[in-house]
Amino acid sequence: MTKHQENITEVGVIGLGLMGCSIITALLVAGNKVIALAPIASDLENAHHKIQHNLQSANDHGFSKFTLDENLSRLIISDNYSDLKNCEIVMECVTENLEIKKQVYAQIENHIDVNAILTTNTSAIPITVLKDFVKYPNRFLGMHWAEPSYTTKFLEIICSSETDIKIAEYLYEMATKWGKEPTLVRKDIRGFITNRIMYAMYREAFFLVENGYATVEDVDRTCRNDGGHWMPFCGLFRYMDITGLPAYYTVMKDLFPTLSNQTTVPKLIENIAENGGKGILNGKGFYDYTPEEAKEWEKAYEEFAFEISRLSSKYPIDLIEKRLSKK
Ligand SMILES: NC(=O)c1ccc[n+]([C@@H]2O[C@H](COP(=O)([O-])OP(=O)(O)OC[C@H]3O[C@@H](n4cnc5c(N)ncnc54)[C@H](O)[C@@H]3O)[C@@H](O)[C@H]2O)c1
Repeated sequence: MTKHQENITEVGVIGLGLMGCSIITALLVAGNKVIALAPIASDLENAHHKIQHNLQSANDHGFSKFTLDENLSRLIISDNYSDLKNCEIVMECVTENLEIKKQVYAQIENHIDVNAILTTNTSAIPITVLKDFVKYPNRFLGMHWAEPSYTTKFLEIICSSETDIKIAEYLYEMATKWGKEPTLVRKDIRGFITNRIMYAMYREAFFLVENGYATVEDVDRTCRNDGGHWMPFCGLFRYMDITGLPAYYTVMKDLFPTLSNQTTVPKLIENIAENGGKGILNGKGFYDYTPEEAKEWEKAYEEFAFEISRLSSKYPIDLIEKRLSKK
Protein backbone atom coordinates (compact mmCIF):
# COMPACT_ATOMS: atom_id res chain seq x y z
CA MET A 1 0.00 0.00 0.00
CA THR A 2 1.44 3.40 -0.97
CA LYS A 3 1.39 6.41 1.36
CA HIS A 4 -1.53 7.88 -0.62
CA GLN A 5 -3.63 4.78 0.02
CA GLU A 6 -3.68 4.99 3.84
CA ASN A 7 -7.00 5.89 5.54
CA ILE A 8 -9.05 5.16 2.46
CA THR A 9 -12.84 5.36 2.51
CA GLU A 10 -14.87 2.41 1.25
CA VAL A 11 -17.65 3.55 -1.08
CA GLY A 12 -20.32 1.40 -2.76
CA VAL A 13 -21.84 2.31 -6.14
CA ILE A 14 -24.95 0.57 -7.51
CA GLY A 15 -25.93 0.96 -11.18
CA LEU A 16 -22.98 0.65 -13.52
CA GLY A 17 -24.26 2.54 -16.56
CA LEU A 18 -22.83 5.76 -17.99
CA MET A 19 -22.83 7.71 -14.73
CA GLY A 20 -22.05 4.82 -12.37
CA CYS A 21 -18.82 3.99 -14.24
CA SER A 22 -17.92 7.67 -14.44
CA ILE A 23 -18.51 8.23 -10.69
CA ILE A 24 -16.50 5.10 -9.83
CA THR A 25 -13.61 6.54 -11.86
CA ALA A 26 -13.80 9.83 -9.92
CA LEU A 27 -13.87 7.95 -6.60
CA LEU A 28 -10.88 5.75 -7.50
CA VAL A 29 -8.83 8.67 -8.79
CA ALA A 30 -9.54 10.40 -5.44
CA GLY A 31 -8.02 7.39 -3.63
CA ASN A 32 -11.13 5.60 -2.35
CA LYS A 33 -11.83 1.86 -2.31
CA VAL A 34 -14.92 1.15 -4.43
CA ILE A 35 -17.37 -1.74 -4.30
CA ALA A 36 -19.11 -1.55 -7.69
CA LEU A 37 -22.34 -3.48 -7.52
CA ALA A 38 -23.78 -4.88 -10.76
CA PRO A 39 -26.71 -7.22 -10.23
CA ILE A 40 -27.55 -6.82 -13.97
CA ALA A 41 -25.57 -9.36 -16.05
CA SER A 42 -24.69 -7.00 -18.92
CA ASP A 43 -23.34 -4.41 -16.43
CA LEU A 44 -21.20 -7.06 -14.75
CA GLU A 45 -19.77 -7.97 -18.14
CA ASN A 46 -19.07 -4.44 -19.41
CA ALA A 47 -18.25 -2.38 -16.31
CA HIS A 48 -14.60 -3.35 -15.92
CA HIS A 49 -13.79 -2.37 -19.49
CA LYS A 50 -15.65 0.98 -19.20
CA ILE A 51 -14.02 1.90 -15.88
CA GLN A 52 -10.57 0.88 -17.11
CA HIS A 53 -11.06 3.02 -20.23
CA ASN A 54 -12.04 6.04 -18.06
CA LEU A 55 -9.11 5.48 -15.69
CA GLN A 56 -6.65 5.18 -18.56
CA SER A 57 -8.01 8.38 -20.02
CA ALA A 58 -7.68 10.14 -16.62
CA ASN A 59 -4.06 8.97 -16.40
CA ASP A 60 -3.26 9.98 -19.99
CA HIS A 61 -4.45 13.51 -19.20
CA GLY A 62 -2.59 13.77 -15.88
CA PHE A 63 -5.84 13.66 -13.84
CA SER A 64 -4.70 10.94 -11.43
CA LYS A 65 -1.80 10.89 -8.98
CA PHE A 66 -2.11 7.08 -8.86
CA THR A 67 -1.09 4.61 -11.55
CA LEU A 68 -3.74 2.64 -13.41
CA ASP A 69 -2.85 -0.51 -11.42
CA GLU A 70 -3.04 1.34 -8.09
CA ASN A 71 -6.51 2.64 -8.98
CA LEU A 72 -7.71 -0.77 -10.20
CA SER A 73 -6.36 -2.46 -7.05
CA ARG A 74 -8.98 -0.53 -5.02
CA LEU A 75 -11.90 -1.65 -7.23
CA ILE A 76 -14.12 -4.67 -6.57
CA ILE A 77 -16.90 -5.42 -9.06
CA SER A 78 -19.52 -7.71 -7.59
CA ASP A 79 -23.11 -8.87 -8.09
CA ASN A 80 -23.57 -9.62 -4.41
CA TYR A 81 -25.22 -6.96 -2.21
CA SER A 82 -23.55 -8.38 0.91
CA ASP A 83 -20.21 -6.98 -0.36
CA LEU A 84 -21.53 -3.53 0.66
CA LYS A 85 -21.36 -4.41 4.36
CA ASN A 86 -18.24 -2.32 5.16
CA CYS A 87 -19.09 0.69 3.02
CA GLU A 88 -19.18 4.07 4.76
CA ILE A 89 -21.05 5.67 1.84
CA VAL A 90 -23.29 3.92 -0.71
CA MET A 91 -24.27 5.72 -3.93
CA GLU A 92 -27.34 4.65 -5.90
CA CYS A 93 -26.96 5.38 -9.60
CA VAL A 94 -29.57 3.18 -11.27
CA THR A 95 -32.09 4.03 -14.00
CA GLU A 96 -34.21 7.15 -13.34
CA ASN A 97 -37.29 5.16 -12.34
CA LEU A 98 -39.04 5.39 -8.98
CA GLU A 99 -39.96 1.68 -8.74
CA ILE A 100 -36.44 0.49 -9.64
CA LYS A 101 -34.84 2.89 -7.14
CA LYS A 102 -37.28 1.77 -4.43
CA GLN A 103 -36.40 -1.94 -4.96
CA VAL A 104 -32.70 -1.16 -4.99
CA TYR A 105 -32.89 0.76 -1.65
CA ALA A 106 -34.58 -2.24 -0.01
CA GLN A 107 -31.75 -4.52 -1.20
CA ILE A 108 -29.02 -2.08 -0.14
CA GLU A 109 -30.49 -1.51 3.31
CA ASN A 110 -30.64 -5.26 3.97
CA HIS A 111 -26.85 -5.30 3.89
CA ILE A 112 -25.34 -1.96 4.90
CA ASP A 113 -24.38 -0.74 8.35
CA VAL A 114 -27.03 1.37 10.14
CA ASN A 115 -24.57 4.27 10.18
CA ALA A 116 -23.71 4.09 6.48
CA ILE A 117 -24.68 7.12 4.40
CA LEU A 118 -26.98 6.37 1.44
CA THR A 119 -27.06 8.78 -1.52
CA THR A 120 -28.87 9.00 -4.86
CA ASN A 121 -27.65 10.43 -8.14
CA THR A 122 -31.20 11.18 -9.32
CA SER A 123 -31.39 14.06 -11.79
CA ALA A 124 -34.94 15.12 -11.11
CA ILE A 125 -36.83 12.99 -8.57
CA PRO A 126 -37.14 15.07 -5.38
CA ILE A 127 -35.08 13.66 -2.48
CA THR A 128 -38.18 14.33 -0.36
CA VAL A 129 -40.06 11.74 -2.47
CA LEU A 130 -37.24 9.14 -2.43
CA LYS A 131 -36.63 9.48 1.32
CA ASP A 132 -39.98 7.75 1.97
CA PHE A 133 -38.49 4.53 0.53
CA VAL A 134 -35.56 4.26 2.95
CA LYS A 135 -35.40 3.08 6.56
CA TYR A 136 -33.17 5.89 7.85
CA PRO A 137 -34.08 9.15 6.05
CA ASN A 138 -31.78 11.14 8.39
CA ARG A 139 -28.75 9.70 6.61
CA PHE A 140 -30.22 9.72 3.07
CA LEU A 141 -29.19 12.52 0.65
CA GLY A 142 -28.93 13.47 -2.98
CA MET A 143 -25.40 13.41 -4.33
CA HIS A 144 -25.78 14.66 -7.87
CA TRP A 145 -22.75 14.27 -10.15
CA ALA A 146 -22.24 15.55 -13.68
CA GLU A 147 -20.81 13.67 -16.64
CA PRO A 148 -17.85 13.06 -16.93
CA SER A 149 -17.61 12.91 -13.13
CA TYR A 150 -13.83 12.55 -13.13
CA THR A 151 -13.20 15.82 -14.99
CA THR A 152 -15.95 18.13 -13.66
CA LYS A 153 -15.69 19.81 -10.26
CA PHE A 154 -19.49 19.77 -10.03
CA LEU A 155 -21.19 17.93 -7.16
CA GLU A 156 -24.56 18.89 -5.65
CA ILE A 157 -25.35 17.60 -2.16
CA ILE A 158 -29.08 17.76 -1.48
CA CYS A 159 -30.92 17.47 1.84
CA SER A 160 -34.51 16.28 2.24
CA SER A 161 -36.65 17.66 5.06
CA GLU A 162 -35.36 14.81 7.27
CA THR A 163 -31.66 14.75 6.39
CA ASP A 164 -29.23 15.33 9.24
CA ILE A 165 -27.42 18.52 8.16
CA LYS A 166 -24.24 17.31 9.92
CA ILE A 167 -24.07 14.36 7.50
CA ALA A 168 -24.53 16.73 4.55
CA GLU A 169 -21.71 18.93 5.87
CA TYR A 170 -19.50 15.85 6.32
CA LEU A 171 -20.11 14.82 2.68
CA TYR A 172 -19.41 18.40 1.59
CA GLU A 173 -16.00 18.24 3.29
CA MET A 174 -15.32 14.79 1.85
CA ALA A 175 -16.22 15.98 -1.68
CA THR A 176 -13.82 18.90 -1.31
CA LYS A 177 -11.05 16.40 -0.47
CA TRP A 178 -11.99 14.50 -3.65
CA GLY A 179 -11.13 17.65 -5.64
CA LYS A 180 -14.75 18.77 -6.19
CA GLU A 181 -16.25 22.23 -5.63
CA PRO A 182 -19.47 20.97 -4.03
CA THR A 183 -22.68 22.91 -3.50
CA LEU A 184 -25.10 22.25 -0.67
CA VAL A 185 -28.84 22.41 -1.40
CA ARG A 186 -30.18 22.82 2.12
CA LYS A 187 -33.87 22.65 1.13
CA ASP A 188 -34.95 20.14 -1.49
CA ILE A 189 -36.42 21.50 -4.72
CA ARG A 190 -37.17 19.61 -7.96
CA GLY A 191 -34.21 19.87 -10.35
CA PHE A 192 -31.94 21.19 -7.57
CA ILE A 193 -29.75 24.13 -8.68
CA THR A 194 -28.25 23.02 -11.95
CA ASN A 195 -31.25 21.46 -13.68
CA ARG A 196 -33.51 24.37 -12.77
CA ILE A 197 -31.07 26.75 -14.45
CA MET A 198 -30.27 24.49 -17.42
CA TYR A 199 -33.92 23.62 -18.14
CA ALA A 200 -34.93 27.29 -18.05
CA MET A 201 -32.39 27.71 -20.87
CA TYR A 202 -33.70 24.63 -22.73
CA ARG A 203 -37.26 25.97 -22.59
CA GLU A 204 -36.23 29.29 -24.11
CA ALA A 205 -34.11 27.52 -26.77
CA PHE A 206 -37.15 25.49 -27.90
CA PHE A 207 -39.32 28.61 -27.87
CA LEU A 208 -36.93 30.43 -30.24
CA VAL A 209 -36.69 27.47 -32.66
CA GLU A 210 -40.35 26.39 -32.63
CA ASN A 211 -41.51 29.95 -33.24
CA GLY A 212 -39.15 30.54 -36.16
CA TYR A 213 -36.85 33.12 -34.55
CA ALA A 214 -33.69 31.04 -35.04
CA THR A 215 -32.48 27.63 -36.15
CA VAL A 216 -31.19 24.86 -33.88
CA GLU A 217 -27.70 25.58 -35.29
CA ASP A 218 -27.88 29.30 -34.44
CA VAL A 219 -29.16 28.71 -30.90
CA ASP A 220 -26.31 26.23 -30.34
CA ARG A 221 -23.77 28.67 -31.78
CA THR A 222 -25.00 31.42 -29.45
CA CYS A 223 -24.77 29.21 -26.34
CA ARG A 224 -21.26 28.11 -27.21
CA ASN A 225 -19.91 31.56 -27.97
CA ASP A 226 -21.64 33.71 -25.37
CA GLY A 227 -22.37 31.76 -22.16
CA GLY A 228 -19.83 29.11 -23.09
CA HIS A 229 -17.14 31.77 -23.26
CA TRP A 230 -17.39 32.98 -19.65
CA MET A 231 -19.18 30.28 -17.63
CA PRO A 232 -16.03 28.18 -17.05
CA PHE A 233 -14.61 31.39 -15.51
CA CYS A 234 -17.43 32.56 -13.20
CA GLY A 235 -21.11 32.17 -12.37
CA LEU A 236 -24.13 34.26 -13.34
CA PHE A 237 -24.06 36.63 -10.37
CA ARG A 238 -20.30 37.29 -10.52
CA TYR A 239 -20.65 37.94 -14.29
CA MET A 240 -23.29 40.63 -13.69
CA ASP A 241 -20.92 42.26 -11.16
CA ILE A 242 -18.04 42.19 -13.63
CA THR A 243 -19.93 43.44 -16.67
CA GLY A 244 -22.15 46.11 -15.12
CA LEU A 245 -25.05 45.21 -12.89
CA PRO A 246 -27.39 48.20 -13.64
CA ALA A 247 -27.74 47.17 -17.31
CA TYR A 248 -29.10 43.77 -16.25
CA TYR A 249 -31.59 45.46 -13.95
CA THR A 250 -32.88 47.59 -16.81
CA VAL A 251 -33.03 44.76 -19.35
CA MET A 252 -34.85 42.41 -16.95
CA LYS A 253 -37.79 44.82 -16.65
CA ASP A 254 -38.58 44.61 -20.37
CA LEU A 255 -37.25 41.14 -21.26
CA PHE A 256 -38.64 38.93 -18.48
CA PRO A 257 -42.30 39.37 -19.50
CA THR A 258 -41.45 38.14 -23.03
CA LEU A 259 -39.61 34.93 -22.01
CA SER A 260 -41.29 31.58 -22.53
CA ASN A 261 -43.25 30.19 -19.59
CA GLN A 262 -44.58 27.14 -21.45
CA THR A 263 -45.37 24.27 -19.08
CA THR A 264 -45.75 21.46 -21.64
CA VAL A 265 -42.94 19.48 -23.26
CA PRO A 266 -41.96 21.09 -26.61
CA LYS A 267 -43.29 19.34 -29.75
CA LEU A 268 -39.82 19.37 -31.31
CA ILE A 269 -38.29 17.04 -28.71
CA GLU A 270 -41.54 15.04 -28.37
CA ASN A 271 -41.49 14.16 -32.10
CA ILE A 272 -37.85 13.08 -32.06
CA ALA A 273 -38.11 11.07 -28.82
CA GLU A 274 -41.37 9.35 -29.82
CA ASN A 275 -39.80 8.32 -33.15
CA GLY A 276 -36.94 6.61 -31.30
CA GLY A 277 -34.32 9.39 -31.61
CA LYS A 278 -31.59 9.08 -28.99
CA GLY A 279 -28.99 11.57 -30.25
CA ILE A 280 -25.51 10.27 -31.01
CA LEU A 281 -26.41 6.89 -29.49
CA ASN A 282 -28.39 5.95 -32.61
CA GLY A 283 -27.50 8.85 -34.90
CA LYS A 284 -30.93 10.50 -34.68
CA GLY A 285 -31.37 13.70 -32.70
CA PHE A 286 -31.63 17.41 -33.38
CA TYR A 287 -28.88 16.66 -35.93
CA ASP A 288 -28.29 13.40 -37.85
CA TYR A 289 -25.02 11.48 -37.40
CA THR A 290 -23.29 8.69 -39.29
CA PRO A 291 -21.65 6.15 -36.92
CA GLU A 292 -18.25 7.80 -37.63
CA GLU A 293 -19.59 11.27 -36.85
CA ALA A 294 -21.18 10.03 -33.61
CA LYS A 295 -17.87 8.47 -32.53
CA GLU A 296 -15.99 11.67 -33.36
CA TRP A 297 -18.38 13.84 -31.28
CA GLU A 298 -17.99 11.47 -28.35
CA LYS A 299 -14.20 11.45 -28.62
CA ALA A 300 -13.94 15.21 -29.08
CA TYR A 301 -16.13 15.84 -26.02
CA GLU A 302 -13.98 13.51 -23.92
CA GLU A 303 -10.84 15.47 -24.89
CA PHE A 304 -12.56 18.83 -24.39
CA ALA A 305 -13.79 17.85 -20.90
CA PHE A 306 -10.20 17.43 -19.70
CA GLU A 307 -9.04 20.67 -21.34
CA ILE A 308 -11.84 22.86 -20.03
CA SER A 309 -11.39 21.44 -16.55
CA ARG A 310 -7.67 22.24 -16.70
CA LEU A 311 -8.35 25.77 -17.99
CA SER A 312 -11.01 26.63 -15.39
CA SER A 313 -8.71 25.29 -12.64
CA LYS A 314 -6.26 28.10 -13.49
CA TYR A 315 -8.83 30.72 -12.42
CA PRO A 316 -10.26 29.71 -9.03
CA ILE A 317 -11.85 32.42 -6.88
CA ASP A 318 -9.09 32.07 -4.28
CA LEU A 319 -6.43 32.94 -6.90
CA ILE A 320 -7.95 36.39 -7.33
CA GLU A 321 -8.35 36.74 -3.56
CA LYS A 322 -4.66 35.79 -3.19
CA ARG A 323 -3.65 38.42 -5.76
CA LEU A 324 -5.64 41.02 -3.82
CA SER A 325 -4.06 40.16 -0.50
CA LYS A 326 -0.58 40.73 -2.00
CA LYS A 327 -1.38 44.37 -2.79
N1 LIG B 1 -26.58 10.72 -17.82
C1 LIG B 1 -26.30 11.82 -17.15
O1 LIG B 1 -25.63 12.75 -17.67
C2 LIG B 1 -26.76 11.98 -15.71
C3 LIG B 1 -26.33 13.10 -14.98
C4 LIG B 1 -26.67 13.21 -13.63
C5 LIG B 1 -27.49 12.24 -13.05
N2 LIG B 1 -27.94 11.17 -13.78
C6 LIG B 1 -28.77 10.17 -13.08
O2 LIG B 1 -27.96 9.03 -12.78
C7 LIG B 1 -28.78 7.84 -12.78
C8 LIG B 1 -28.21 6.87 -13.79
O3 LIG B 1 -28.16 7.48 -15.06
P1 LIG B 1 -27.24 6.95 -16.27
O4 LIG B 1 -27.17 8.06 -17.24
O5 LIG B 1 -26.00 6.35 -15.73
O6 LIG B 1 -28.18 5.81 -16.85
P2 LIG B 1 -27.76 4.43 -17.54
O7 LIG B 1 -28.98 3.93 -18.22
O8 LIG B 1 -26.50 4.58 -18.33
O9 LIG B 1 -27.43 3.49 -16.27
C9 LIG B 1 -28.39 2.98 -15.39
C10 LIG B 1 -27.86 1.67 -14.88
O10 LIG B 1 -28.72 1.14 -13.88
C11 LIG B 1 -28.74 -0.27 -14.04
N3 LIG B 1 -29.90 -0.85 -13.38
C12 LIG B 1 -31.19 -0.85 -13.82
N4 LIG B 1 -31.97 -1.51 -12.94
C13 LIG B 1 -31.15 -1.92 -11.92
C14 LIG B 1 -31.35 -2.67 -10.72
N5 LIG B 1 -32.56 -3.10 -10.38
N6 LIG B 1 -30.28 -2.91 -9.94
C15 LIG B 1 -29.04 -2.45 -10.26
N7 LIG B 1 -28.78 -1.77 -11.40
C16 LIG B 1 -29.83 -1.51 -12.22
C17 LIG B 1 -28.76 -0.45 -15.56
O11 LIG B 1 -28.40 -1.76 -15.93
C18 LIG B 1 -27.76 0.60 -15.99
O12 LIG B 1 -26.45 0.10 -16.03
C19 LIG B 1 -30.20 8.31 -13.10
O13 LIG B 1 -30.91 8.52 -11.91
C20 LIG B 1 -29.97 9.64 -13.84
O14 LIG B 1 -31.07 10.49 -13.75
C21 LIG B 1 -27.57 11.02 -15.09
